[in-house]
Order: sequence, then structure tokens, then C-alpha cells
Amino acid sequence: MCGIVGYIGKRQAYPILIGGLHRLEYRGYDSAGVALLSETDKLNVYKAKGKVSELENVAQEKDCTGTIGIAHTRWATHGEPSARNAHPHVSESGNLTLVHNGIIENYVVLRDQLKSRGYHFQSDTDTEVLVQLIEYVQQSLGLNLEQAVQAALKRVIGAYAIVVLDRRFPNRLVAARKSSPMVVGIGEDQSEYFVASDASPIAEYTTQMVYLKDEEIVVCERGRDLHVFNLSNEDVPVEVKNVELDLTMLDKGGFPHFMLKEIFDQPAVLEDCMRGRLLPEHRRIVLSAVTDHRERLTQARRFIIVSCGTSWHAGLIGKQLIEHFCKIPVEVEYASEFRYREPVIMPDDVVMAISQSGETADTLAAIELAREAGAFVFGVVNAVGSSIARNTDTGTYIHVGPEIGVASTKAFTGQVCVLTMLALALGEARGTVDPGEYHAVIEELQHIPEKIGRILEQNDRIEVLSKIFTYAHNFLYLGRGWNYPVALEGALKLKEISYIHAEGYPAAEMKHGPIALIDQEMPVVFIATHHQQYEKIISNMQEVRSRNGRIIAIITEGDQVVPGMVSEYIEVPETLACLAPLLSVIPLQLLAYHVAVQKGLNVDQPRNLAKSVTVE
Ligand code: F6R
Repeated sequence: MCGIVGYIGKRQAYPILIGGLHRLEYRGYDSAGVALLSETDKLNVYKAKGKVSELENVAQEKDCTGTIGIAHTRWATHGEPSARNAHPHVSESGNLTLVHNGIIENYVVLRDQLKSRGYHFQSDTDTEVLVQLIEYVQQSLGLNLEQAVQAALKRVIGAYAIVVLDRRFPNRLVAARKSSPMVVGIGEDQSEYFVASDASPIAEYTTQMVYLKDEEIVVCERGRDLHVFNLSNEDVPVEVKNVELDLTMLDKGGFPHFMLKEIFDQPAVLEDCMRGRLLPEHRRIVLSAVTDHRERLTQARRFIIVSCGTSWHAGLIGKQLIEHFCKIPVEVEYASEFRYREPVIMPDDVVMAISQSGETADTLAAIELAREAGAFVFGVVNAVGSSIARNTDTGTYIHVGPEIGVASTKAFTGQVCVLTMLALALGEARGTVDPGEYHAVIEELQHIPEKIGRILEQNDRIEVLSKIFTYAHNFLYLGRGWNYPVALEGALKLKEISYIHAEGYPAAEMKHGPIALIDQEMPVVFIATHHQQYEKIISNMQEVRSRNGRIIAIITEGDQVVPGMVSEYIEVPETLACLAPLLSVIPLQLLAYHVAVQKGLNVDQPRNLAKSVTVE
């Protein structure tokens, strides 16, 4: 949530900052702002409600010169989206300006204290308290900027990633983090530094990145090495990582939306996900996490999967995969519930965090709890170097490239692909997987990208189909077995980008309540591929038909029964039951996409949502 970018160097900062904000806009997009220190040492701050393009309109024809600056795109937590509440915020004296991601929990107390000392507040945000507090300690204790940042942060309860600029120190940016990511990019020599809430806005300038850890503060000063220290005043060695992002993944690549591009990315990125892990010549799956921690993983008494949203749906499929191939019991928990309900966690449990962004606050807190309880923590993460990736004992990256569209698509199939490989590798290590089935799944996995490609060829048909359903106010998604989590995922995709209310249910549960909703106005999406419980789902379909429900069926190519029963259906290629979700979810992603486009909605940036949920 929210995006930060900062620059100090020889180049003009404004184009770098605005370009960076565009890259980060997927994280938050209700207001944006930029602060630049001009060549005459004047601090110019411009802000706008709405998207980064609105900010560009505001800044047009204003003084945007300067080689040092900070910028922010916001997802409101405290205070409505408005120019007044947008960052950067400026201190009472006008010397300091600051951008912030996260939430300051004790901001009310701090604000009251600062008000009683004569500070005035212009916004409703928690962030403004930070900039005033830094100024207050700086003035009252006679500290330099980084010392003041350190002293102020010691008084703060909450989560933060901040960058501060002080008009009186034009060669210096100071940044800090706690529970919210912050990365520093090292540009040419020591003459330029980039700071950002993730690597995407700075990846085109440098591959040399330093990820701050919790309670660390960094001083980026022209002509000097980075200086990192922590709240306990210890110097921290600077650990430079080489991070190469595929920049083509950060562009729409000719597609009208990131979401559509990412749906179409799936065949290629699943190949990437399996590369070097699925070894066709050896008919084996080799995952370094399983090789390196064989003992610990094979001896696990239980797996607990913690995640949120789409990643939670992938977790439900992971449960079936691990129970089926490894015969280890698996629980799947919403991270937000797990962390607060005193869960019983045993040292021989494996707690698995699934997260695209690797920054989801609840998932991060859940694994911290698991570590405290002595469990072994495994990450299934997309964003390389993210907080969750760094806070696990081991893990497997899904390697599907940056996902920019707010609605998760390729991350879901990447997660399911990794979970399939993990269950197979672990099942083999435990001796619980039938060798014939092991080889059959490995063989079939290799055909999944090409089969997804065949589904994508039906995009135009699905677009036409979507036009029939834009009228609907409610949708029901039904699936069984392997396809039940796909029903949940299909419903989530539709509701988040088209704002149509949609529910996913196990098909048999329909009779226990939702059937009351069915009439000719209610589209019901059945995921009815040719696998376990196929006959049963056909009966469920009959029940809907006899109540005049409008059915859209996802079926296996060559199905002779369903096309005779319903007018709307989409075929997916035949595959093994355990791999069905990798195919059946694709038409549901496309359906949600086209319905939202038909309704004229902003698919990549749906209202109220943010890509990375770094607040609880
Ligand atoms: C849905 C979606 C969200 C995320 C959820 C978890 O399309 O994107 O439901 O899946 O916020 O995010 P990660 O996977 O980053 O932990």
C-alpha cells in the first residue's frame, strides 16, 4: 500500500520520481505528491488528489528543477484521499519534508503533545506527526537529521517506511523502515542513490540494491558510501544485492491492461517457474528447499498454510496436494485470523506463508508468531528479497515476474504450480507418492503452459460471452474437489474488478442455503471439468436449471453432456484432476476481466484496493 520513491544525485530528480510513481501506482492511487529541492534551495511541494497524471497536471509549468527529491502515491488509511492529506508532508518550519508508508499507531498521543508545544497540523494523517516529531527532537536536542530521525522513531509505535529530506542538508536523504519495505539503489559511483518501497521504480537505473531491515536507518549522501545504523545506534554492514528485474514485465507489452497481459503471460511464466526444478530428462522434480531441509520437511507433523485473498485460495489447493501426495495433515488459515487467536503451533509443524508481494502485513505477522513458537517457516513468494522471503527458514520463489494488475492472476497459477512441485518432491522424499502417479503428473505438468495457451485462444469468445452478463448484480460460482478453490478465486476476481457481488461455494453446499437466491437473473458459473464428482456436479447443474438459473459452465473439451444442458460454456483441455485448477481458473480470469472492461471500469486499479496490503 502506498508507494515511495526518492532520488539524490546529478540528474534532474523530477522525471525519475514521476516515472517511479507510475511504476508504483499499482500499490496505491488515491493521491500523489512530490517534493523537490530546487537549485536555489527552495523546497517545492506539489500534490494532487487522484492519479499520478493529476499530479503531473498540477506540477506542469511549475518549478520542477532539482537533483534531490521524494515522492509518494497514496492509499488512504488516516484521512480521506485529498491533496491536503497527500504526502510529502512538511514540518512546521518548512525545513523538513517526509513521505511515509505504514501506520503510526500512537499518532493521536504524539499529535496532542506536539500541539501543546505549538505545532500546527494541516492534514488528518498519522504521517504529519512524524515529520513534526522529527523536527521537534531535532530542534530541542540539537541533532542532525539522521540522529533526529532515530530519536523520533524510538518514540513511535507502528509500521513505517519513510524518507526525509531536510532543506538545510541538500546533499542528504535519510530513510528508515519498520514492518514496511524499503530498498536503496546505488547508482553511479557514490554520486547517486535511489530509495523506494520496492525495486520496480528504480530497476531501470541500477541493479545494486540494499534492502533495509526493521529498525534500520540509512543515510544516502552524495559522494559518500551508504551509512546504515539502527535504532540501538549500532552501525550495520551494508549488504548489496544484485537484483535484476525483467523490465519488460513492468510494461503492458501492447495489451490494454496489465491484468490482461499478466493473464496472457501465464504460459511463459509457468515455464519459468518450472525451469530447473522439473527435470524432464530425469523425470524428477528437484526443489532446493526440499533437498536442503529434507529431514525437517519429511518429518513434519503438520503443515499450517497462512495467507490472504488469492494466496489463501492457492493454499486450499496446496492442502489437497500435500495431503494427497505427502499424507501430511494440512490446515489453511487466514493469516489475519491465525495471528490473533492464540493458535496451537508445535515445533514440528511447518508453517507455510504464501504471498505474491511478500509484504502482506498479516502474513508477515503470522510467520513471526510461528517462528516464536519454534515452527519451521517455509515461504512461497513471488517478490524476490521481500520481507516474507527474508523471514522464512526456506522457501521456493514462484518466479512469475512482477505482478502489477491489482487482481492477482499469474501469481495464483505460479503458486499452484510451486505447491504441486513441492507436494511431489516431498511426497517422493517421504515415499508416500505412487511412482506411476508421480511420473504422470510430471509428464502432464510440462503440457500445462501449452494447454493454458489453448484456453487463451478463446479470449474473443469469452469477451463476447461477458457482454451477456454485465447486467448481473450477483454471481454464484460453484465447484467441487480440486475446483472448489477455483470457484472461490473466480468469484473474488469478478467482485474485485467489476464490483459485482459474487460468491464461491462448494457445489453441494448450494442446497444448504444459496439455492434460495437462484432465479433467471442469477448467473451461476459451474466449474465442471471431467474429474472426480463430475456426475454429482451435473446433478447440481440440473438443480439450478430447474430453477431457471443462468448457467455458464467450464467443461473439459469433448464433454458430450453439458453442452446439451446449457447454452453458455467454455472448454478447457483435458488434464489430470490435481492439475485442473491451473486450467479451469484461466477462463474465470478472462471472464472477470471482460465483464469489468464492458462496465468501463479501471481494471488495473479497482476502487479501494491496493496491490500490496502492508497494513493489517
Ligand atoms: C486478489 C488479490 C488479493 C491478494 C491478497 C494477498 O486478486 O490480489 O486478494 O491475493 O491481498 O496478497 P499477497 O499474495 O501479496 O500476500
